[in-house]
Amino acid sequence: MKNTQLIFGLSALLCFILLNQLFVFIKADVYMHNPRGSNDRNCEFHANRNNANRLFDSQNNAAGGYACPRMIGGPEVVTPRMYYYVGSELPIEWTSQHSCGFRNTYCNVVIQYMCNDTAPNLRDGTPENEKDAATDTISEATNNNPRYGLHEPMEYYMKCRTRRRNSGLYIADQRQENWGRLLENSPAVETRQNPNGNRHGWECPEERDYYPYWHPTPWKDIAIFTFNTSMCQWYQENSENVRGRGECLQESGAPSPFNNEKSCISGGHNWHVRPAHGVDPPECISADIINVRDNHLGNTYNGQLVNYKWYIPNDVHENCVVRIRYNITTGDYHPFETDSTFNYPKSPLKQDPFENFEYPSWLSLAVNTNQYGRTFQDRSYVFSIKERPSTIPAWAKIYNLNVRGKRGNIVQTFPSTEYDFVPNFLEARGGDFIHIQWTGSDYNPQRNPNDAEGAPNTGDRSNLVQSDNSGFNYPRNYTRVTMFLKDDGTPDLDFITRLAFIDQPIQNTSECMDWKSLLEKNGGNKNKAEQDCNNCAKLNNAPNGPYFDGGLHELKANGMFAYMSTRNNNFSNRSHKGYLIVTGARFNNSDKLKMSMTFIGLIFMIILML
Ligand SMILES: *[C@@H]1O[C@H](CO)[C@@H](O)[C@H](O)[C@H]1NC(C)=O
Ligand SMILES: *[C@@H]1O[C@H](CO)[C@@H](O)[C@H](O)[C@H]1NC(C)=O
Ligand SMILES: *[C@@H]1O[C@H](CO)[C@@H](O)[C@H](O)[C@H]1NC(C)=O
Ligand SMILES: *[C@@H]1O[C@H](CO)[C@@H](O)[C@H](O)[C@H]1NC(C)=O
Ligand SMILES: *[C@@H]1O[C@H](CO)[C@@H](O)[C@H](O)[C@H]1NC(C)=O
Ligand SMILES: *[C@@H]1O[C@H](CO)[C@@H](O)[C@H](O)[C@H]1NC(C)=O
Ligand SMILES: *[C@@H]1O[C@H](CO)[C@@H](O)[C@H](O)[C@H]1NC(C)=O
Ligand SMILES: *[C@@H]1O[C@H](CO)[C@@H](O)[C@H](O)[C@H]1NC(C)=O
Repeated sequence: MKNTQLIFGLSALLCFILLNQLFVFIKADVYMHNPRGSNDRNCEFHANRNNANRLFDSQNNAAGGYACPRMIGGPEVVTPRMYYYVGSELPIEWTSQHSCGFRNTYCNVVIQYMCNDTAPNLRDGTPENEKDAATDTISEATNNNPRYGLHEPMEYYMKCRTRRRNSGLYIADQRQENWGRLLENSPAVETRQNPNGNRHGWECPEERDYYPYWHPTPWKDIAIFTFNTSMCQWYQENSENVRGRGECLQESGAPSPFNNEKSCISGGHNWHVRPAHGVDPPECISADIINVRDNHLGNTYNGQLVNYKWYIPNDVHENCVVRIRYNITTGDYHPFETDSTFNYPKSPLKQDPFENFEYPSWLSLAVNTNQYGRTFQDRSYVFSIKERPSTIPAWAKIYNLNVRGKRGNIVQTFPSTEYDFVPNFLEARGGDFIHIQWTGSDYNPQRNPNDAEGAPNTGDRSNLVQSDNSGFNYPRNYTRVTMFLKDDGTPDLDFITRLAFIDQPIQNTSECMDWKSLLEKNGGNKNKAEQDCNNCAKLNNAPNGPYFDGGLHELKANGMFAYMSTRNNNFSNRSHKGYLIVTGARFNNSDKLKMSMTFIGLIFMIILML
């Protein structure tokens, strides 16, 4: 393995934009919505996250992110975690504040994952009791304490902290001689974007800022969206998935300051080449297809959030996380041709300049040189990758059907979103499977009005019932439901009931009370009755709280099906609805939709596909 070459090749390519005329403050937060991104939150009840240094450096707004996927309580409260089958299709959805793919910015988006093979003990961090948010940053002393979330391993950070930074990188004027802090041999935890060397979990700041990184990392690549697809071959050949990385260690195995093979060997230390992760190279795609508008934290032109369909790799592990890195550089300088030779004063970009710019007098600009050319990121909570069940024929696809969003109205949830199904429009073939599963959190504050109700300590809850079409806001006749059939072609009432009541004990009248008993129990107080924990109509007694797993269901009925969540849908404030179209299935829809409905559906579909 030619690792020296790799390092030099990479260093030569590294680096960053410079803006000689466009002094724009770059704010480009990225938030992942499916799987739910934490934005460094855990189990806090507040509108803003507690600790932006908990696991990673997102650089995002503190209001972003979804709370921990748990019911309230300490380690004794176990809420099952999300899992995805090998080969199933998972839409990764996100919003970003700045554009990508409009050719007015240099931008790339890198999606990665890691599991507890390369990141042993990977965990979210479990509260110790019901008041504990478990949001403190991990330390050497707490490295084995399950209360503290852990992503990258501690040893990985220790190597980064000891190793010198790559001095070929562009750092503008962040050098000590100017006003900054960085030196030639500062450690790799001090970078242009993180000049004070702040620690975020056990993340390595130099790795955070640059992709692909030139030393071993626990991250496996999923996809790269690039502004320049001519770089795809290079990205794919140099991904750590398929190409190993070297690192320098002392004889004892302790971290070394040397950051390349030559200085490592001449310094008397040992250069170790770590093998590639051995998974397929990442997909490389033009950023044009994600086409988000500048400063629109939202949808693309087809009405959907930016998304990437991830086919879950054959890499079965109990604990995994997904990470999205959004990298933006506005400007007139080429992002990959700007290296340390462009540092101040060679290039004029410096902190808060106060100059005449050839005008008759002075002008002051607000410039923060650690924010020109910036990486933002978000990461999911821990999930599992499970073996594909052998009972499913190899040709059949598995589609994950999940829920995104959190309780509250659009203003309260922002920059998260209100509830929606993911995907909310799905076209599948008969014989394919859908894996219906969702989670949420009981840690989101209760938000009235219009917060999707529920008992004070029940947060996100979702269910799924069929409606006549996506314009309707009530369920259709239970006995005529046609979306889920049994092997004999009759409606699968057990499954339909499970999806509607998410495993609440509806047969037990003391666990699940009718409205009259609820009113009696609450002295006639309607509000209290609505929030009563025995109100199963509001999904207040769900055994796994925000989590529900409907398991795999084979699609057996042809048709165009609309469905909704009765708890969350609230015309006209919130539309928690989805659409499923099945063709080529074993059974025809026993209760054909009226032609007009079909027509409406088709129009809807055409709009979505545009
Ligand atoms: C990953 O975690 C699971 C559950 O904690 C454990 O059983 C498994 O051995 C771990 N895998 C590796 C490779 O450490
Ligand atoms: C961000 O883009 C710059 C080039 O503009 C590149 O050097 C860097 O590696 C990228 N970082 C990530 C995380 O994609
Ligand atoms: C795109 O990448 C290719 C290959 O690295 C390079 O030759 C070309 O200059 C790049 N184009 C732009 C516009 O960055
Ligand atoms: C639904 O919206 C109405 C106003 O349109 C609001 O008063 C009510 O609280 C909302 N209900 C829920 C469950 O969110
Ligand atoms: C639901 O449909 C069944 C079968 O068509 C019918 O017998 C029943 O009356 C319907 N129920 C309602 C409430 O419309
Ligand atoms: C119904 O629920 C109550 C309260 O949890 C319990 O005591 C009772 O055994 C349940 N009844 C049945 C038939 O399961
Ligand atoms: C929607 O929500 C807002 C605030 O959450 C509430 O004031 C309003 O009444 C709700 N209903 C409609 C129809 O807008
Ligand atoms: C379903 O309907 C289509 C079109 O009307 C027909 O060709 C097909 O034979 C039907 N299939 C079954 C299983 O009834």
